[in-house]
Amino acid sequence: MNPIAEKLLHWYDQHARDLPWRNHPDPYAVWVSEIMLQQTRVETVIPYFQRWLITFPTLQSLAEADEQQVLALWEGLGYYSRARNLHKAARIVTGQFGGQLPASAAELQKLPGIGRYTAAAIASMAFGQDIATLDGNLKRVFARLFNVAEPADSPPGEAVLWALSEQHLPPGRAGDYNQALMDLGATTCLPKNPLCSLCPLGELCQARILGVQEQRPMMKPKVAVPHKFKIAAVIVERGKVLLAKRPETGLLAGLWEFPAGEVDADRPEAVTPALETGYRLGVRPLDRLAEVKHAYTHFRLTEWVYRCELIHLPENDVLAWVEVSRLEEYPMGKVDRAIARLVG
Ligand code: ADE
Repeated sequence: MNPIAEKLLHWYDQHARDLPWRNHPDPYAVWVSEIMLQQTRVETVIPYFQRWLITFPTLQSLAEADEQQVLALWEGLGYYSRARNLHKAARIVTGQFGGQLPASAAELQKLPGIGRYTAAAIASMAFGQDIATLDGNLKRVFARLFNVAEPADSPPGEAVLWALSEQHLPPGRAGDYNQALMDLGATTCLPKNPLCSLCPLGELCQARILGVQEQRPMMKPKVAVPHKFKIAAVIVERGKVLLAKRPETGLLAGLWEFPAGEVDADRPEAVTPALETGYRLGVRPLDRLAEVKHAYTHFRLTEWVYRCELIHLPENDVLAWVEVSRLEEYPMGKVDRAIARLVG
């Protein structure tokens, strides 16, 4: 075995984190964990993972669930297309693979929401296949170990890092190797102030030897994210509040929101045209309830919330009156859930 894999696995045998999806007998559970862990920290995922397996203990039970229930259980994890894809893929696996998740990375990667990283992670951890993977933690570890100066988020940088991950894979222990690298990245090879003196690979680490570990991985220069402003209307009549269902594609697809429209600035006069544009909804602003901010991946949002009086309600299937006491049952993104808490 190569010295990197050998030292790494020796360290992992002693220091592996005890995580609920590790050595789980059911590939479905490993799959759920990998989807939840995309762009999300382990500590955040654990309670969601445990709740998920209680509500949907089998792939079959997920396939049979309705989408609103799936989205409600995912609420707060963000990137909701992950939940929609997981649900869609469970239906495909039930319909086309007799309910058994395929074991090969190539087959897994054909399912919605499963890319190269996730396919390899599932194939190695749940099915013992000898296949390397590469996530943000692994990129950082390999960029430091081999002092890779190519940006880790560029195609050439990724190609170099995938190759390094593959070259050091110890046959027979790919699942442990991949997870050992994840743990090393999460606990020791930290983005800032890495704990090099505790690292099992410290003596082999080229960036550390050169003293440039803090400058690895290199990343492409950041482009400034735009800032959007919206005004949302809280319209309550006889214990019910008016919600809108978002379109089935795009950001926060299929989730519920308070009717809102984009504006330039926080002006009460802007409320009426903003809601007229999106929903043909006629409202009059009464008073301002709150300002809610959120950072999405591609933009920042500031949303001003106005209590409004209803002037005109158009006929459509996007808007719905919802009992204030039942708002919890309607899946929403973070911004709208914050507004719902003000109302309910
Ligand atoms: N991140 C993604 N998958 C993981 C796993 N199996 N263990 C720890 N961190 C992870």
